[in-house]
Amino acid sequence: MSTTLKAVRGTRDLLPPETALWERVERIAREVFARYNFGEIRTPVFEDTQLFARGVGEETDIVAKEMYTWEDRARAQSEKAQSLTLRPENTAGVVRAYIEHKLGDSGLLQKLYYIGPQFRRERPQKGRYRQFYQIGAEIIGPPSSGSESPLRDAEVLEMLATLLDELGIKGWTLTLNSVGSSSDRPRYIAALKEALAPVKDKMCVDCQRRAETNPLRVLDCKHPEDQPIIETLPRIADYLDEASRTHFAQVLAGLDACGVKYTVNPRLVRGLDYYTRTTFEFTVETGLGTQNALLGGGRYDGLSEMLGGPKAPGIGFAIGEDRLILILQAQAGDAAAPKADAYIAPIGEAQNAYALALARELRRAGLTIETGDGSARLKKSFETADKLARNIVLVGEDEAQSGILTVKNFAAGEQTKIPRAELASALKVS
Ligand code: HAM
Repeated sequence: MSTTLKAVRGTRDLLPPETALWERVERIAREVFARYNFGEIRTPVFEDTQLFARGVGEETDIVAKEMYTWEDRARAQSEKAQSLTLRPENTAGVVRAYIEHKLGDSGLLQKLYYIGPQFRRERPQKGRYRQFYQIGAEIIGPPSSGSESPLRDAEVLEMLATLLDELGIKGWTLTLNSVGSSSDRPRYIAALKEALAPVKDKMCVDCQRRAETNPLRVLDCKHPEDQPIIETLPRIADYLDEASRTHFAQVLAGLDACGVKYTVNPRLVRGLDYYTRTTFEFTVETGLGTQNALLGGGRYDGLSEMLGGPKAPGIGFAIGEDRLILILQAQAGDAAAPKADAYIAPIGEAQNAYALALARELRRAGLTIETGDGSARLKKSFETADKLARNIVLVGEDEAQSGILTVKNFAAGEQTKIPRAELASALKVS
């Protein structure tokens, strides 16, 4: 006997009725993005491995441990073998596309959004998957387009507050920080290294390595034993130059002007290397434990140049759609599955064709219709209809001949006779 195959660990099937919620979330996101004049970008699901190594950073957990990478063999002599990677995030791909298509040449800001799967080989648990979905957006352009303006940061954050409110997410918290510009960073990293040197041996093995290779990542450490040491380390806020400090103050002033609430957390560094200046996270307390980061983002003023492109400052975010759905489900309780408007039950197989034609007519009028089969017993048809639809429409010989149909509305418990011509409008309101 052959073993049954299952979805790979960390991946899952999304099934109805849950997919209706995914569709609703994506519809609202697209509507909100449209109001802020964003257009959709769809980049490939796999890219050259170098893109992520250079963009996200060799020393990040994502690149060091979590990528799905393979050597793509050449199929012809003219081709070279190439190392490819399933995208672990979408910002690097968007910036690659920005450079490749010379989108900066227009001199205008590019406002792009995406919805799609991302892949990271993490330890799976509730809210953390190996294939997960992100809804994200990026604003990028040459400095002359205003891409560096703190107004962009404030506008992105205000848009997120609006989106979460319109989705019905309750109790979110926005936390933000400035991680400084590319000139502030080396001074801060030098100070961190110096402060870590005498204490790093008391920290976890990951921090011991990070203290050497990428000290900023130490601030991200989740080990409880390391926290008292992390508390004593220098703070980035004290190393920001005048320009970065003013930029951050203007972002906060923008949020204040719109009434968007926030908390500044000087330890927020985030797990990707491309960030400069503003970084942020939105969290929601859900009982998901450490997986309460609903979305994250920030500025990446040097990313385009890191990828060989022109100077093109940018800012963006990505929402974890899987987590968003979990939060909505937890906050709404188990919502009832949506029901069809009517179930058409032919009585006797001779009525099947009539039932099909009637279903076509009602569906064309915009109704959601299920159809049964004339061989079913009437009792069974009623039971199935009650599970799937709000009404049952009976099509017996009499009904087919007279064109007057028998309709039962389950909520009202009433049976009525309705002429075929009036059926669509009657079912719409019942
Ligand atoms: P990130 O913080 O790595 O940022 O991911 C953003 C969000 O994706 C997280 O807050 C989380 O909700 C979700 N997420 C990440 N990993 C998983 C997982 N394994 N399972 C489920 N959800 C997950 C980025 O990806 C950046 N590209 C965001 C960005 C855009 N920054 C600037 N522009």
